[in-house]
Amino acid sequence: MIAIKAAVIGHPVKHSLSPMIHNHWLKKHGIDGSYEAIDIAPEKLQATLSQLIDQGYAGFNVTIPHKIAVMDICDEIGAVAQAIGAVNTIRIDGGKVYGTNTDAFGFIENLRDQQPGWNAAHGPALVLGAGGAAKAIVYALREAGVKDIVVTNRTREKAEELGETVVDWQERNNAVQNAGLIVNTTSLGMNGQDPLEIDLSGSRAIVYDIVYRPLMTPLLRQAEDLGLPVVTGLGMLLHQARPAFKGWFKILPGVDNELQDMVLKAAQ
Ligand code: ATR
Repeated sequence: MIAIKAAVIGHPVKHSLSPMIHNHWLKKHGIDGSYEAIDIAPEKLQATLSQLIDQGYAGFNVTIPHKIAVMDICDEIGAVAQAIGAVNTIRIDGGKVYGTNTDAFGFIENLRDQQPGWNAAHGPALVLGAGGAAKAIVYALREAGVKDIVVTNRTREKAEELGETVVDWQERNNAVQNAGLIVNTTSLGMNGQDPLEIDLSGSRAIVYDIVYRPLMTPLLRQAEDLGLPVVTGLGMLLHQARPAFKGWFKILPGVDNELQDMVLKAAQ
């Protein structure tokens, strides 16, 4: 048997946590395989990817800035990736390139993991932000059966493109009152960025931040101080990696404590 090879491709890519995650699972399951980070400049994407495919790679995780450009190279794109408009996972099979997106899965699995009591009946979801991550999250919430999704974004036009109810960014504090779930998909609150300014008083929502540097963002601290249930963001990264690993190495791995601790330490 030839060892199965996979990698994350991006630019830059050296800070990616994906090699740590996949190598943990390879070791844990005793699989003869490898997973590395490969830096590919945007103008070299097509040529380098073809070379790697010729070298027998089973697939790739795709990260910034290739998630959209790589769609042109795929022979087939799954329904989820098509709906989200971005590919984050590639599987090579019989020389064909299959593109999928596992971010929606990662988002919802992490929510169910940390708040098992959550379901669509919990009420409307308020999504802060309207970038690439928000697209996957709105898709995931719709699929999970959430009836009311409200999106608010600094740039209103981008929120409108998501096809859900839109609230002005300046009005976000009012939108908090009705929500059963509040999700921050913006980069606000991340180390080195401004905090997300929002007043959660009076809310009954589960508060989910996809930012994981730091793990407890100012938003999540405010929620905890008010006694609201919280969901931290690192698990989204861990869970989105699971179906990708399965696609290449044929085993659906789990998120164990050792993995969580290791990645958390590396991320902070
Ligand atoms: P990602 O793929 O992680 O979603 P992105 O597509 O660049 O990244 O989206 C970043 C999100 O954070 C956007 O919703 C952005 O708002 P704009 O669409 O108005 O740019 C939001 N964001 C970033 N910095 C912000 C800030 N200082 N205030 C409010 N929103 C901000």
